[in-house]
Amino acid sequence: MARRSKINFKALESVQKLRGGYYTPLSVAEFLSDWAVTLKTRTILEPSCGDGRFLEALFEAVYRNGTKNGTVSIDAVELNEDQVKLAEKKAKRLASKGLHAHVYCDDFFSWILNAPPDKTWDAILGNPPYIRYQYFDKDQRFIAQEIFHKTNVKFTMLTNAWVPFILASVMHLAPGGRIAMVIPSEISYIIHAQGLRELLEQELEYIRIIHFREIVFDGTLQGTVLFLGIKRSDRPFRPLRHHAASDRVLFPDETEADTVDFKICDIKGIDDLSTVGSSEMALQPQNGKPFSGHWMLGLLDNEERSLLSELSRIPNVKPFSQIADITIGIVTGANNYFCVSDTTLEEYGLSEIAVPMLARSELIKGITYTAADHEKNAALGKSVHFLEFPNLDANRLPKTMQEYVKVGEKQQLHKRYKCRIREPWYCVPYVWVSQISLLKRCHHFPRLILNEFGAYSTDTAYRISLKDAYSECGKDFVFSFINSYTFLLAELGGRHYAGGVLELVPSEIRALKVPLVKVARDDFRLLDQMIRQKRNPDDILDFTDQVILSRGLGMCDKKLRALKACYNRVKRRRQR
Ligand SMILES: C[S@@+](CC[C@H](N)C(=O)[O-])C[C@H]1O[C@@H](n2cnc3c(N)ncnc32)[C@H](O)[C@@H]1O
Repeated sequence: MARRSKINFKALESVQKLRGGYYTPLSVAEFLSDWAVTLKTRTILEPSCGDGRFLEALFEAVYRNGTKNGTVSIDAVELNEDQVKLAEKKAKRLASKGLHAHVYCDDFFSWILNAPPDKTWDAILGNPPYIRYQYFDKDQRFIAQEIFHKTNVKFTMLTNAWVPFILASVMHLAPGGRIAMVIPSEISYIIHAQGLRELLEQELEYIRIIHFREIVFDGTLQGTVLFLGIKRSDRPFRPLRHHAASDRVLFPDETEADTVDFKICDIKGIDDLSTVGSSEMALQPQNGKPFSGHWMLGLLDNEERSLLSELSRIPNVKPFSQIADITIGIVTGANNYFCVSDTTLEEYGLSEIAVPMLARSELIKGITYTAADHEKNAALGKSVHFLEFPNLDANRLPKTMQEYVKVGEKQQLHKRYKCRIREPWYCVPYVWVSQISLLKRCHHFPRLILNEFGAYSTDTAYRISLKDAYSECGKDFVFSFINSYTFLLAELGGRHYAGGVLELVPSEIRALKVPLVKVARDDFRLLDQMIRQKRNPDDILDFTDQVILSRGLGMCDKKLRALKACYNRVKRRRQR
């Protein structure tokens, strides 16, 4: 049985990080306040006000609006007492100028749950803390779950404080009211926020995501966006009515979901906020579309979306999950120890338990992994052998293996989490070979690798097994995966990391679609060569798109050009 890790990650974090204490630049607070405060605004909420910088920005916005003195009131909440004192000072100053601002020293989650259920605010603004659920204290966990429950959004332990902050805010936003927040850019794609996105689409008629290409908060690696939303004006809040299917529908145009006027606007940094055009910001309900939580589709125009939708309906275009199953690779817990080179094999006399292994992406050059590749990698001194120890107590192992086990124990590997939860620690479980592999992360594009040599793979790659009905389609599948359509879906459905890395988790891979075509042996060989020669990704796609999309699906040149342009635009956005 797996035991829980004793590492106290919470103790390793800085106090600033634990309370999510990164403050909003004044120009951003002003931008959000100017947008959120209208002539109708009377009540405003700032759920985590810190030192109160939003209070000042709000006062200016109200003042600029020409709203009569004394008619607007602000409620501000903050957990940290020192910050509350600073915010209170600002509130007092503003009171003397005719703006009523009350600062509450409290935990926002319990404060809002104690508010009357029908209490609403006309504008809710702020920069909620970014704190992992696992760092919440016991009471906070309970109360945060209560907020999920009230909104009927599925709770998950992967959540982060900013999610229940937004849920509670939307629950208490007046019809026609405005929400304006600084939040992590992962809101657009992270799986644990799917329910939040669905609720926001249901409750808001207008959403704008202003995405900064630069890191806005020093000391964090978190990409940041400004989230602006207008509550539907025809009704009070309703909990989420229905969840989208767990197998993610990427083309919700045909669904009965609520439509929302949704746009993602990309800008470089804070200084460019003034360049966000009024046409981008204007409410255009007639352009509303259902997104069913797939907000990355906001990067596409209507024609591009229709094209994707059209392609998805072609019978040869199959969901990945229909063709193959996907499982994570072998988790050794210590790749450098279990995956070794020829030299280590010889030094310890371990050839008897050595089996071929793909432990690193650099070992795979093409779309096949062959005996010749393995030999070449071995000759270069790469760690291509996996040590598959027998399931025996150490004292029953041959002397050579006992020696090597001692080497691992000297390095304390048996105490590592992944190793100590199994018995004996050197016997790695779930060791089996898959017909096809897929590297978890990539820079240019994801690719399937036909495992002709039958090498095992560590968890840097996924193991892909063809379903019975497609068991003979290995080569077709590996080739057909490389096309602008599937790659565009991967860009829209995957997650991005600093440096332009694209990562796909199994649920995102299952949701991809692949135009499965029969491939000639020569075409397959040519593609393998092009990839091995590191040919320009555009040239590679020119070739495969011709075979798969033009010849295979009968796509016309005009549509193919539009698809490619769309894919290149979305890909460039990631790689910038
Ligand atoms: C990202 S800072 C933003 C502060 C301010 N709104 C701004 O924009 O500059 C988040 C603030 O949330 C506060 N905070 C953290 N957890 C909270 C909670 N449960 N309730 C209220 N405030 C909280 C932190 O102390 C911190 O001041």
